Amino acid sequence: MSGASSNSYSVAHKARQSRPIDPSEPLNISRVKGKTILITGGASGFGASFFRKWAAAGADVIIGDVDENKGESIVREVRIATDNEHHHFVRCDVTDWQSQVNFFKEATKLSSHGGIDAVVANAGILESNHTFNNPKNLDMLDPPKPDLSVIEVNLVGVLYTTHLALFYLPRNPGSEPAGSNSSQLKEDESPRDRHLLLIGSMASLYPIPLQTLYGTSKHGVLGLFRSLRSTAFTKGVRVNLICPYFVETGILTPRGRAVLTGATLAKIEDVVEAASRLMADSRINGRNLVVGPRIRVVETEEGEWQFSCEENATSTEVSLWEANTDDLENTDFFMRRIVGIMNAAHEMNGWIKWTKEIVRALLFTVKVPT
Ligand SMILES: NC(=O)c1ccc[n+]([C@@H]2O[C@H](COP(=O)([O-])OP(=O)(O)OC[C@H]3O[C@@H](n4cnc5c(N)ncnc54)[C@H](O)[C@@H]3O)[C@@H](O)[C@H]2O)c1
Repeated sequence: MSGASSNSYSVAHKARQSRPIDPSEPLNISRVKGKTILITGGASGFGASFFRKWAAAGADVIIGDVDENKGESIVREVRIATDNEHHHFVRCDVTDWQSQVNFFKEATKLSSHGGIDAVVANAGILESNHTFNNPKNLDMLDPPKPDLSVIEVNLVGVLYTTHLALFYLPRNPGSEPAGSNSSQLKEDESPRDRHLLLIGSMASLYPIPLQTLYGTSKHGVLGLFRSLRSTAFTKGVRVNLICPYFVETGILTPRGRAVLTGATLAKIEDVVEAASRLMADSRINGRNLVVGPRIRVVETEEGEWQFSCEENATSTEVSLWEANTDDLENTDFFMRRIVGIMNAAHEMNGWIKWTKEIVRALLFTVKVPT
């Protein structure tokens, strides 16, 4: 059964995926008010836009970035614009575990309520040299080690951020496990939350030629999201993902810009809208919003989209849609079947055989030579 069939938001111990998001529903951005939100790579691009939007709506935002000039500068700008001193920059290199630990520790100290409500694993880079799948100097005796910095930032960095989020979010004072407030989200609800927002890409879903490592890292982020969304929920942390198409930000190299000349890109305001929906509504868990270029479509009777144009009065403009909506149920179903088969095997073999196998497995680890 798909989450789409349920009309209410999920309850912690039952479902781990909330009902589908309806992008036509008004977004109540005021629900970020009072939250302390950490953003890695918050000094420019998406991170800076999230910062401005959520700070303007009353959140306290703490950004971590390697770019100290931009980081300090945006914090000054937003403090003045919002008349709020509770925005901070902490230097953080996401590829460095200790640097991320310091970022989270420092943020906990700086937070006006001593906790962290939400974490956005946003820092990322594109591949600038394309030597991974095109090695040079084939006559060299020793092949040079490939440059895997994209994996270091976009995947290892995100794994560090995720691990730290799973450590700090459940310790957020006054927060309840995500989902326990179920369907009734009141206007005066406590802003305390436990939210991890992952930033994937269209490259999480489709490969981009010449961006092998970038695509690998973003597929990894999708894998992380899919693996986490049921298990992280047991710690009361809700996990969501956005997968944007190309957007004009600092990440695009001159070569990338040249390739994309004339192409319709996604809009940064739509990326902010997608992230804000997931950030503001603490009932949402396990959802993946894709952000594409704005296109006009008509919906067929089968529920499929067909490209259309403004002249068609029945067409609507879309830029956000959901992906990976049903696979959580499918995975659960698959796992239930596996567990069911294992249980059946236990019953057939009997507990004595099962116990012998366990003892043998334990002894095997003991006997492994050092
Ligand atoms: N712009 C796009 O077309 C696009 C599309 C899909 C996904 N994304 C993803 O969105 C995220 C943000 O990208 P953006 O477009 O805003 O790019 P951007 O270059 O404008 O911002 C990225 C930020 O990350 C910071 N950063 C880089 N390496 C870091 C490190 N080691 N430690 C800490 N900070 C570091 C940079 O200094 C920068 O401030 C990335 O994960 C990116 O992969 C971007």
